[in-house]
Amino acid sequence: MNTGFNVEEQNMIFTVEPGGILQGNLRVPGDKSISHRAIMLGSLAEGATEVTGFLEGEDALATLQAFRDMGVNIEGPDNGRVVIHGVGMRGLQTPAGPLNMGNSGTSMRLLCGLLSGQLFNTTLTGDCSLSTRPMRRVTEPLAEMGAVIGTTEAGTAPLNVCGDQPLRGIRFDMPVASAQVKSCLLLAGLYAKGRTCVTEPAPTRDHTERMLTGFGYPVERVGATACVEGGGKLMATPVEVPADISSAAFFMVGASISEGSDIVLRHVGVNPTRIGIINILRRMGADITLSNEREVGGEPVADIRVRSAPLKGIAIPEDQVPLAIDEFPVLFVAAACAEGETVLTDAKELRVKESDRIQVMADGLQTLGVDARPTEDGMIIQGGGAGCRLGSGRVESHDDHRIAMAFSMAALRASGSVVINNCANVNTSFPEFVTLARNAGLRIESAS
Ligand code: S3P
Repeated sequence: MNTGFNVEEQNMIFTVEPGGILQGNLRVPGDKSISHRAIMLGSLAEGATEVTGFLEGEDALATLQAFRDMGVNIEGPDNGRVVIHGVGMRGLQTPAGPLNMGNSGTSMRLLCGLLSGQLFNTTLTGDCSLSTRPMRRVTEPLAEMGAVIGTTEAGTAPLNVCGDQPLRGIRFDMPVASAQVKSCLLLAGLYAKGRTCVTEPAPTRDHTERMLTGFGYPVERVGATACVEGGGKLMATPVEVPADISSAAFFMVGASISEGSDIVLRHVGVNPTRIGIINILRRMGADITLSNEREVGGEPVADIRVRSAPLKGIAIPEDQVPLAIDEFPVLFVAAACAEGETVLTDAKELRVKESDRIQVMADGLQTLGVDARPTEDGMIIQGGGAGCRLGSGRVESHDDHRIAMAFSMAALRASGSVVINNCANVNTSFPEFVTLARNAGLRIESAS
């Protein structure tokens, strides 16, 4: 089992030779967002929750370890199977030391809400990247609920969450469209007196609401508002985690841009709050078909077939931005290969992800000879069109998993090798990436 944050792997380098096509039928690992939530709700439930398809990546494992540190008996993960022996809403125990969330913003922000409702104090820490990410977006509304949480002066981790603070329900209008903020407040709301209602400015992933319902906890959803009433309980239920559309996205773009590609991605989660990547690529001219659409444990899944197609540049509709928020690094690669201009706006959030994804992608694309101009809240990319080749060279991932995987796919259209620095964090979301990508046809090697 991979539990560590492998400092000695920090210099993992991907070297990707140009060209190739993607083919075959593959299943990418489990959804990261759903894996986190399965551990959290399974731990607080009454009874044993069996999870299958769990993502054995460092981020979800950080969440799993945190609950072990709080006394929850968790079997596995064994081939994606985890059994969580839930301790009930009041069964968590004081951890012996700080809980290390590694690179995972989802772990830190959701746990911050959940821990605000406990009777004991906790400290949440993270790696260098996570320790610079904004936490006031959760600590301020939690303080309105009565929580007491210490941050650095900059509003960043480490977070000191004081226990035994009575929480009260609030109505909160989120200034940014963030599923992490929404989920954090709903989880705190489970421990609050009265009702907690969160209104979002645009739809964001709703896995928390769906999973709470699956565990028998009523969630009222009216329009853009989700509400929970504190004081209920969760009942164990099996969770089958679908393949992560955010991991599938790399192959969707890779197949679209490399002529002759034809790939099937099996059992991918296609929750309507996550399918911005499909909507945007289709608008650019991609050939994507969904089949075998079904619902598994409250989440829609489908098999996705992608065949190469000439792409064209577009103005990305702003309503699609939150629905594709993690997919922009690889969408920028699609834009670089598309005919004409692609313009992204209203995506300022990309600057506070695992890296500043606007700047870092613009820098790397420019190294590959692409006319990519960062703007305050997005990017303008002049794509070369169907026949174009990108340049080659060495790019920086800035320890951001999605940047590393996005540039790996760019090599399919490069004129020479693409070397990507600092790729170890691919293990946070997609530990099998190199093997799966190589089997599908990408000429990728990794070396430490
Ligand atoms: C996530 C929400 C998104 C996303 C992240 C996972 C979640 O973050 O970028 O990878 O699981 O709730 P924001 O809520 O900050 O947009």
